[in-house]
Amino acid sequence: MQQLDEVRDKWLGAAERAASLEDLERVRVEALGKKGEITQFMKTLGGLSPEERRDAGQRLNALKEAVTAALEARKGDLAAAALDARLAEEHLDVTLPPHPEAEGRIHPVSQTIDEIVAIFGEMGFSVAEGPDIEDDYHNFTALNIPPAHPARQMHDTFYLSQQVDGAPLVLRTHTSPVQVRHMQKHQPPIRIIAPGRTYRFDSDMTHSPMFHQVEGLVVDETTHMGHLKGCLIDFCRAYFGIAELPVRFRPSFFPFTEPSAEVDIGCSRAGGELRIGAGNDWLEILGCGMVHPKVLEMGGIDPARYQGFAFGMGIERIAMLKYGIPDLRTFYDADLRWLRHYGFLPLDIPNMVGGIAR
Ligand code: PHE
Repeated sequence: MQQLDEVRDKWLGAAERAASLEDLERVRVEALGKKGEITQFMKTLGGLSPEERRDAGQRLNALKEAVTAALEARKGDLAAAALDARLAEEHLDVTLPPHPEAEGRIHPVSQTIDEIVAIFGEMGFSVAEGPDIEDDYHNFTALNIPPAHPARQMHDTFYLSQQVDGAPLVLRTHTSPVQVRHMQKHQPPIRIIAPGRTYRFDSDMTHSPMFHQVEGLVVDETTHMGHLKGCLIDFCRAYFGIAELPVRFRPSFFPFTEPSAEVDIGCSRAGGELRIGAGNDWLEILGCGMVHPKVLEMGGIDPARYQGFAFGMGIERIAMLKYGIPDLRTFYDADLRWLRHYGFLPLDIPNMVGGIAR
C-alpha cells in the first residue's frame, strides 16, 4: 500500500505539471486509460482474497477519484489560461480611430443614391432594378408612348443595331421602364424606388450622355394624389435637411401619368448665389404624376381596382444643388482632386438617425 501512495503522488504531480491540454490527455491515458497504470492495478484485484479485495478496492477507487479530480482541475486551469491568452492576443480597442485614415472617397452620385435609399427606405420603399439596355416596348410603348408618338422625340435616344420585335434596342432614356418591369412581376401593394443609369444623346454643361435617375412607384387600392404630394414633400425636406423647405407642384405632361406635375423647391438667386430653401424663386427638381390607367394595364394590373403614383428625378441634378457642384461634366472626369473635394468618407453612411444632410 506504500506503493499506492507513491502512485498517487506520481500522477497528481504529473497532472499538476501538464503544460497543455494535450500533455494532460497523455497523463490521463497513462494513468487511467485501458492500459494505464491505475487500470492495471484494478485488474490485480481479482487475485486477492475477499477481505484484501474490499480494502484494496476502496483504496484504488479513492486513488482513481483523486487522480480524476486532479486531471479535471488542471483541465479547467489550462482552458482558462488558454482563453486568457487568446483574449489578450485578440484584444482590439474599438474606440481607436481607423488607421491609416481612409484615403478613398465615395462619389457624390453613390452618396446621393445612398441618401435617397435611406429616406425612401424609412418610408417603406424597397429598391428595384432593370436593365440599362431596354427594348422599345418597356422604354416607350408600355409607358403609353406608342411608335411615332411625338414624345419619343423628346428623348434623344441612343438606338442599338440589334432589333427585338421589329424595333431596335435602346439605351434606356429614363428609369420609368423599371415601373413596367416591376408591375409585370408583382401585384400591388407596390412601393419601390429604382435608382440607375440613363442615357440620352446630349452633351453640354448641364447634360451628359450618361446620367442617373431614380424612379419611384406606388400602387395600391386607395393611393391618391395626396399621397404623392405628402411623400415627395417629405422627401425634399429630408433630403435637403430643411424642415420648412417650400415645395410647389406645377401642372405638367408625361404620357405615362395623368394628371402629371413637376415639383419645384423654393430658392433664392440673390447676388448670383443660389440658396435653397430661402427667397422667392423656384427650382424644378422632379417629374411625377398618377400612373396612367393604360400603363397599369400594360403592367398587368387592373386599373379599375388599383391606382398609383410615380415620380422620376435626376440624381446628379439634386446632388449638384445640395453640394454646390457647379459643372455636371466634372462628375465623370475621374479627377482625384475633385473627388477628394466633393467625395465622402467611406464611413459617412447616410441614415435617418445620423442625418442625411450635412
Ligand atoms: N421619366 C420622366 C423623365 O425622365 C420622369 C417621370 C417619371 C415623370 C415618373 C413622371 C413619373 O423625365
